[in-house]
Amino acid sequence: MPYPESLRKFIEKVEATRPERVERKKRGEEFPALKLEEREPVLKAFHPDFIDGTKRKIKVGPSKNYSVSNEIVDLLEAKSRMNPDAVDLSKPDFETEVLVIGAGGAGTAAAILAAENGAEVIVATKLRHGDANTMMAEGGIQAADKVGKDSPYYHYLDILGGGHFVNDPELVYTLVINAPDVIKWLENMGTSFSKFRDGTMKTMHGGGTCRKRMHYAADITGAEIMKTIRDEARNHEDMIEVIEFCPAVDLVLDDGGRCTGAVLYNLETAEYMFVKSRAVVIATGGSGRLHIQGFMTTNHYGATADGIVMAYRAGVPISFLHTVQYHPTGVVFPEQAEGILITEKFRGAGANILNVHGRQFVYEREPRDVEAACIIRECSPAGRGNGVPTPTGKFGVWLDSPMIDMLKGEGTVRKEFPGKHILFRRFGIDIARDPMLVHPTLHYQNGGLDINNKCETCVPGLYAAGEVTGGVHGENRLMGNSLLDVIVFGRIAGANAAEYARSAGEPGKPSLEHVKRYNHEIEEAGISEDRIAPMLLPDYRNPEVKKKQLTGKEFGTLSW
Ligand code: FUM
Repeated sequence: MPYPESLRKFIEKVEATRPERVERKKRGEEFPALKLEEREPVLKAFHPDFIDGTKRKIKVGPSKNYSVSNEIVDLLEAKSRMNPDAVDLSKPDFETEVLVIGAGGAGTAAAILAAENGAEVIVATKLRHGDANTMMAEGGIQAADKVGKDSPYYHYLDILGGGHFVNDPELVYTLVINAPDVIKWLENMGTSFSKFRDGTMKTMHGGGTCRKRMHYAADITGAEIMKTIRDEARNHEDMIEVIEFCPAVDLVLDDGGRCTGAVLYNLETAEYMFVKSRAVVIATGGSGRLHIQGFMTTNHYGATADGIVMAYRAGVPISFLHTVQYHPTGVVFPEQAEGILITEKFRGAGANILNVHGRQFVYEREPRDVEAACIIRECSPAGRGNGVPTPTGKFGVWLDSPMIDMLKGEGTVRKEFPGKHILFRRFGIDIARDPMLVHPTLHYQNGGLDINNKCETCVPGLYAAGEVTGGVHGENRLMGNSLLDVIVFGRIAGANAAEYARSAGEPGKPSLEHVKRYNHEIEEAGISEDRIAPMLLPDYRNPEVKKKQLTGKEFGTLSW
C-alpha cells in the first residue's frame, strides 16, 4: 500500500531537512554519538530488557533462580510433548554417527565439517533445509581481513564494547581469529560477496565497529551464504542425510549421562522417531517467534527456542538469556510487512533516523541496544512523544533511504539494497525516493546454552553452535557477528562432534530418564500449568477459533 496522505505530510518534513543533512554528511559532520556514560540511563529507562515485570526466576533445572523473559520461563517450566514411558528406544528408526538438530547456518556448517571429518551425519530439521534466521540475515558478516587497516584485535575490542564487557573472552577470541578464514572458506565454495571492479571485497561499518569490516552480498548476505552451504551439504549426499519437517522434541541420554540421540516428531504423520547417534549438535537457532513482550519479529517461523528447552532439560545451563536483541529498524508500515528486518546497512551507507518533525535525534550507528532504546524513547508517549503515527495507531521513525542515492550516486539504493527495494515496490513505495517507517523489532537471542570454545556443553557428546548458545556476544550482539558466529562455531561443533563420535566408545543404553526426572521436578516445584514444550510452531489462531478446535487434546502432539 503506497503511503497515504496522513503519512505524506510527515514525509514532506523529511524532504525539507534532507538537503542540509546530506551536505553535513558530505562534510563529515555526524550527529553526536552518546558518550559511554550517557548510554546506561537511556537503556535503563527505555530498553525492553529493563521493564519491570517482564522476567521471572526459573523454578527448575540447572539454572534455577536465573531470571529471564516470562515467555522463555513458560517453556522451561513445561513438560515434554511426549510421554517418555511410551517411546520405544529399543529399536532406533535411524542410526548415525553425528546427529545435527537444525538446518540453518550453524547446523549446515556443522554437518559439512562433520562429514569432512569422516562422520556419517543426519540433519533433522523442523521445516525445510535453510528455513532459518541465517537465510533472512541481510547486512553482512564481519571479518578483520584487511591487513594494515584492521586486525582481529580491533574486532575483539568492538565485540566486547558492544556486549557491555561481560562476553566470554575465549569465545570472542575464537570468533575473531577464525573470521578471515571463514570468508575465504565461503568464497571458495561460491559465495558471491559484493566486490569492487578490481576484485577486492567491499566492506562497510556497522553499529559499534571501529573499522569497515562488514562483508556483504548486497542486502541478501544470509541468503547467499545459506544457499552456498546448503548446496555444499547436499553435495555430500553420501555422508549427509537431511530429514525435513521432523523437529527434535527431546534429547536421549544413555545410562551414563552421555548424549546418544534424540526423539524427532514427524509433523506430517504425527509420529515420534528415535535417531540414535554417537554425538549430537544442537543448532536450532533463536526464539523471535515467542514475540517477547508482544514485539513483532524479524525471525523465521520456526524460531521457538526448541534447542534451549531440550538441552536445558538434559542438564545444560543457560546464560545471557536475560538480554534480548531488538533490531532498531523493523518495518512498521505497510502492516503486511510488519516486523521485517530493514538492514543496518542502510545506516552504514549514511541514511539518517528522523522523528515526526523530520529531525535527527540519534546517531545512526550506535550499538543496537542503544539505538533501539533511543528510538523507543522518541516514539513513546512516556518518552519524547515524537513518533510518526501510522494509520492504525502505531508509532515509528523514518529511515531516510533516499539520502543514500544523494551521497553515493543515483541508483545506489536499487543496486545495493535489491531485496528491500523489491519488497517495498510491491507496496507501491520506491525507497530510493521515499523513506521507510521503522520501529524496533525482536531480532536476536543474545544468550543461550553454555558452551566452551570447542562447542562442548556439560553433557558428554552434546555440542551446540549458533544463536542457541550464549556468551560470545555478551549482553548485546553487534551487526554481522551472527552470520560469523554460525559459521565459525558451526564448523567447530561439527569437527569436534565427528572426533567425539570416532573416539568415544559405544554409548550405553538409551534412556529418557532425565525427561521423567524433569517432569517430576516441575511437579515438585508446584508448577501446575499444563504447558508442554518445545513449542515447535507459533500459534497465531484467533483464541476463539482455537478454543473450538482444541476441545480435548491437540491432534497427535500430546500423548500423556
Ligand atoms: O541489520 C542487519 O542486516 C542485521 C544483521 C545482523 O543481525 O547481523
